[in-house]
Parts: sequence; structure tokens; C-alpha cells
Amino acid sequence: MSDAPRPDPIRWADAGLATRAIHAGQDPDPATGAVMTPVYQTSTFAQSAVGEHAGWDYARGGNPTRDALEVALGSLESAGHGVAFSSGLAACDAVLRQLAPGDHVVMADDVYGGTYRQLDRVHRRWGLAFTPVQLDDLDAVAAALRPETRLLWVESPTNPLLTVFDLAALAALARERGIRTVVDNTFATPALQAPLALGADVVVHSTTKYLGGHSDVVGGAVVTDDDALAEAYRFHANAVGAVPGPWDAFLVLRGIKTLPVRMRAHCAGARAVAEAAEQLPAVREVLWPGHPQHPGHDIAARQMHDYGGMVSLRLTDEAVAKRVCERFRVFTLAESLGGVESLVEHPGAMTHASTADSPIAVPGDLIRLSVGLEEPADLIADLEQALAGT
Ligand SMILES: Cc1ncc(COP(=O)(O)O)c(C=O)c1O
Repeated sequence: MSDAPRPDPIRWADAGLATRAIHAGQDPDPATGAVMTPVYQTSTFAQSAVGEHAGWDYARGGNPTRDALEVALGSLESAGHGVAFSSGLAACDAVLRQLAPGDHVVMADDVYGGTYRQLDRVHRRWGLAFTPVQLDDLDAVAAALRPETRLLWVESPTNPLLTVFDLAALAALARERGIRTVVDNTFATPALQAPLALGADVVVHSTTKYLGGHSDVVGGAVVTDDDALAEAYRFHANAVGAVPGPWDAFLVLRGIKTLPVRMRAHCAGARAVAEAAEQLPAVREVLWPGHPQHPGHDIAARQMHDYGGMVSLRLTDEAVAKRVCERFRVFTLAESLGGVESLVEHPGAMTHASTADSPIAVPGDLIRLSVGLEEPADLIADLEQALAGT
């Protein structure tokens, strides 16, 4: 080894997002020099004496691959702590479990259907109350807050209506009343939106989507700057076992490396598809925050770097919407979103079926497109042929 002095290690926290995505928590393996984070496929760790070990004892409590992911997750959101979960809904559950029976949550009236179902059919049974509200009406939000309200749950843009909410205004309103704001940042990702900088206390993600980015893993994350909350989330993950395995942690970590560059391409593709959809007579309405007529466009322009990779379309009626979903050839008819391949779905019958007959039911004439990384011209041609003659 040369005697030349080694440079001081870089503080990744000071680097730009693309650099942090590739390096934060992902230094070469000190034991072997492996450039990629090893997958520590083990359930337990040897102890040199009773209670003495290298930092890990049993893999439900911690695993070095998961630790690397958690550092990367925190770093992406410029936060002190990231905690990885086995799914996005496990992450939501960890946040809601910090509340107590009798506590109240205010949330958007078009949150992700699974979040609503969890509150309605799991947490409600254990004494949580919640009120869905139009979060773009700050007076309505203020009126819905009760003395026992503990959380304001915001998703922006929302799934699947792509509604955009003013995160700074909502977080300020909640903070005035001593209420925490949680933002589900799954659709925007840290590449486009930084909720903590806008005043939120906690960010949740389904890492199944853009963070993983390749439709090959289910995972979730909670990110916060609050030390005590982070400790509580970590305790919860271990206590209930809602943790990702090492392979899943590795896959999310690998996806994160390309997040910034993928998001640029997703956004450009979605813009091309949304603008083409505007021209199609079969499309009654294009829901895409980049459109100047979108009700949340000005807020999105302010609080996001770009408008995301999702586009929803309202067609003539429910029967047409379902039929059209089955006619795509490049877009695959499937639930989920945020992968390299384009997907189409009918939220009313698929991802949001559990919200039928609820206050947050989605319109039947809606289809949702997750615009992948294929050539935008091929996606537009596919959309045109799927809608032809409808
Ligand atoms: C906005 C949003 N939040 C949370 C979730 C739940 O994540 P998961 O499916 O990883 O449990 C989803 C899933 O579609 C989602 O779209």
C-alpha cells in the first residue's frame, strides 16, 4: 500500500441527491472491498461471548444489508433516520400504531385505498377515529381537527386522482395545533419532493414503487428527523416483525441508486403521454399535475421539481374504461406502479376496489397509467390504438 496520505472520507450528507442515492450507506464492504453492499443472508450472528457481538444479534432486529438501506433512505429525504419495513402498508401501520385508542386522524378524501382500508378495518377496531377531508380546503381541514386529533395524513400527489396538496400550508396548520403531519411521498419520491423541508414530521413510502423501481420487490419505509419517533418505529418493526429480508433490502438499495435518473425519464414520458392524451377525443379529462389547468398545478410547480410519472384518464364511462384497459399492448394491465415497464389499471375494480361504497370511492370511468421508461412514441401509439373507436 502506498504511503501517500489518504483523503478524508466524504460526508455523503453534504453531497447532491444523485450522489447520495449511490453512496449513502453504501461504502465498499470493509471486510472484502466489495463495491456492492453484500446480502447478509443470515438469520443470526455469532457472539464472541454472551451478549458480545459485532452489532447484530438476530436478524429481525437488524441486518447489515437492511442497515445500509436505512441509511440510504434517511439520506434521500435529508433526514436523520430511515426505517425499512416489509411493505408500504407495514410502514403506514408503524406510524399509526404510535397513536392510542381515542386518538383521531384527519386525512385526504382520496388517499391510497389500502391506507384507507387499514384505518377503516384495522385501526378503527382498536379505537382510532378518522375523518376524510378535502385537504385543498384549509378551512375544512381546520374544522375537522378535534382536541384529540394527533395526525394529519397527507398524500401528494394522490393515488389515483393525482390531487396535489399544499404541504407547507397543511404542515403549518397542523403544527400550530400540536398535530404531527405525515406525508406519503410514494408518488413524488425524494427526487421530486422534500416533505420534511416543507414542515412535515414524518415521511412514508411504498418502496415497492419508484424507490425499488423494477417491479421485483415489495417494501416500505418511514423517515423522520425525530430521534424518539425513529426509535419507536424501529422498536415496532422488531416487536411485530414487519421487517424486510436481506434480499428485499438489497433490491430496494440497488433501485435507489438510479432513482434520480429514472425519475427524470418517468417525468418526461408522462409529460409526452399526458399531452398526447389531451388530443384524443375519447379522453374526457387528463389528470396530470403538469397541466396548467390542473387545480393543483401552481402548488406542484412550487413544491415539486417535476410532475411525476403517473397520468390518470377519465373516459366515457366505466364499461369503456374497463374495456380499454384490456386493449393495451405495451402497457401491461397490472396493479402497482413506478417500475421501468408501463402499467395500466382500472383503480375502481383493482387497486381501490376495497373503497367501493366508501367516502373515498374512485370514479368508475378512471384508468391509471404508470408511465415507464419505454420510448414515449411507442407508449403514445399504444394509447391511441387502445382508445381507437371507443
Ligand atoms: C401511495 C401509496 N402508499 C402506500 C402504498 C402501500 O404500499 P405497499 O403495496 O408496498 O404495501 C401504496 C401501494 O400502492 C401506494 O400507492
